[in-house]
Amino acid sequence: MRESRVVTRGLFLTFEGIEGCGKTTQLNRAAEWLAARGRVVLTTREPGGTALGQRLRHALLHARENVEPGAELLLLVADRRQHLVELIEPALAEGTDVLCDRYIDSSRAYQGAGRGLGEAAVDALHRRWCPRVPDRTYLFDCPVETALARVARRGGAGIDKFEREEIAFHRRVRTAYRRRARSEPHRFRVLDASGTPDAVFARLEKDLEALFIPRRPRATRRR
Ligand code: TYD
Repeated sequence: MRESRVVTRGLFLTFEGIEGCGKTTQLNRAAEWLAARGRVVLTTREPGGTALGQRLRHALLHARENVEPGAELLLLVADRRQHLVELIEPALAEGTDVLCDRYIDSSRAYQGAGRGLGEAAVDALHRRWCPRVPDRTYLFDCPVETALARVARRGGAGIDKFEREEIAFHRRVRTAYRRRARSEPHRFRVLDASGTPDAVFARLEKDLEALFIPRRPRATRRR
């Protein structure tokens, strides 16, 4: 008798927001929450989710040379394409839930609005090279001043190129994120990120429950 497994695709969740919004802490807590409920989880990030991505990440965030905005966008999309094909799609196909720290909405907000390239230019590349749309996107939203004060406290040599941008840049990014969330209310959940990590997670957990609890565990079928 042959055994065949019916694997339901994993869910693809992305975590977005301005610098210092606390999304990485929340992503890790969400991963623990899911693993404790028997889900198989992959956590990853952009840029830098693959070996090639690590090299691109260094060029984007820490290299001394000036990267022209269009070139910056292309490097980010190259990172994303490699990430999608090498890691994200195979994981989803085998039933793993993928939790990704930044994805397409970062490019819309940072390159489209922050750098002024326009969202249409960014979306044209995504349509061709990174067509996978997240099942859910969490936008951790708080005032730019609150977030940047957190980054300053974290401080030191770890500060990257984007964190050094002027405040108007971060305001454009935040506005673009909020606009995008309003235009895709089914995909986005906007979470107030100004509270304590526990308070923010309590809100996130409510949505995770809504997303995951109705789903059956992956089925095994014999025939
Ligand atoms: P990271 O150290 O991961 O910062 P954070 O903790 O804020 O996520 O650095 C990623 C930086 O790259 C972040 O400042 C935003 C920027 N970025 C873009 O500008 N566009 C993109 O598409 C992505 C994925 C990141």
